[in-house]
Amino acid sequence: MPFNTTQLQALPTPSYVYDRALLDSTLAAIKAETHDNTSCHVHYAIKANDNPEVLSAIAREGFGADCVSGGEIRAAIEANFPASEIAFAGVGKADWEIRLALNLGIGMFNVESREELAVISELATDTGTIAHISLRINPDVEASTHAHITTGCAENKFGIAHKDMITTIRQAQSLPNIDFVGLHFHIGSQLLDMSDFESLCLRINELQELLEGEGIEVRNINVGGGLGVSYDDPDGHPIANFAAYFETFRRHLKLRQGQQLHFELGRAIVAQMGSLLTRVLYVKHTAVKDFVILDAGMTELIRPALYGALHKIENVTASERKETEDKVMYDVVGPICESSDVFAYDYPLPRTCRGDLMLIRSAGAYGQTMASTYNHRPLPQAFIL
Ligand code: LLP
Repeated sequence: MPFNTTQLQALPTPSYVYDRALLDSTLAAIKAETHDNTSCHVHYAIKANDNPEVLSAIAREGFGADCVSGGEIRAAIEANFPASEIAFAGVGKADWEIRLALNLGIGMFNVESREELAVISELATDTGTIAHISLRINPDVEASTHAHITTGCAENKFGIAHKDMITTIRQAQSLPNIDFVGLHFHIGSQLLDMSDFESLCLRINELQELLEGEGIEVRNINVGGGLGVSYDDPDGHPIANFAAYFETFRRHLKLRQGQQLHFELGRAIVAQMGSLLTRVLYVKHTAVKDFVILDAGMTELIRPALYGALHKIENVTASERKETEDKVMYDVVGPICESSDVFAYDYPLPRTCRGDLMLIRSAGAYGQTMASTYNHRPLPQAFIL
């Protein structure tokens, strides 16, 4: 447990708690792997956690930002990410978002279709700006993760098919106010098997050869994000395996002279620094099961309900009581009127009582940003400790 119990006792629940020291050491670990390479740019994917203090801490360390909406672009600017280090992605960019990005002079648009490319060219001409664009190519690489968070296989809505790559690049090169800078890829999220990233590298190498044959110059390669974290053992693996991740690209990706390599990491930067702090409202005994009913539910953390994710759950108060009895199996659930509002089934916990303080771990990524007001609940606050 990374936090001081007395500090936690004083906080309202449900709320998010973020471990600032862990965020700092995670950022330092990434910098240690990339500092000797000036052509390597790591953009933080703001969708994972958009807390202003977290954003400022990441910006201060010299990272860029990966944004998927006008709101995220504004948040990035407010947190002092340089506009030139902002990448703007997403299959459905609205006109106002494109205009905002153009007026701010962001580093690059990751473009997902020929239709979008035409609109960006039109708006750039209209505003007298130049849009630097990368084309998101669907690499058709199947990654081993949950079906809802794979993005790189042919049937996903994301990106441009290989077979259309050359014609789309030619279209980009012919359009006014468009500067074609490179290619963008993203194969999925929560990936722990480095062979998935290796497959991506091999596919990019093939595509680069094809482009070379056509005499097309590519300045940037953006390999997206996706590095996973340990949800089973956050204390054993507080920092993601950045060494293996960056080494995979160093070994397998054949960059051309002067090419810049961009990454867009979200989860691996912020997941382990965050926990959802919650109190036990009731321990409900039934003929078949015992339920621990928390004051946090799928409104605060939707990952278990949406993806079947299992986050480690800790009873902070029971650890203080020094419970010596054997663990009890509980279904740990939230208060929301949905049967999918369950954090874990048959989960072993020390004997648990009303009022106990619990931590749901590894919730710093896609926790607070995916919270909702369903059931007219207030959005959770966050505390940086
Ligand atoms: N780049 C692109 C184009 C993306 O779509 C994503 C995430 C990222 C980068 C950052 O990926 P990361 O490094 O965080 O894996 N809500 C889900 C995850 C959705 C990921 C969406 N795209 C979850 O809670 O597991």
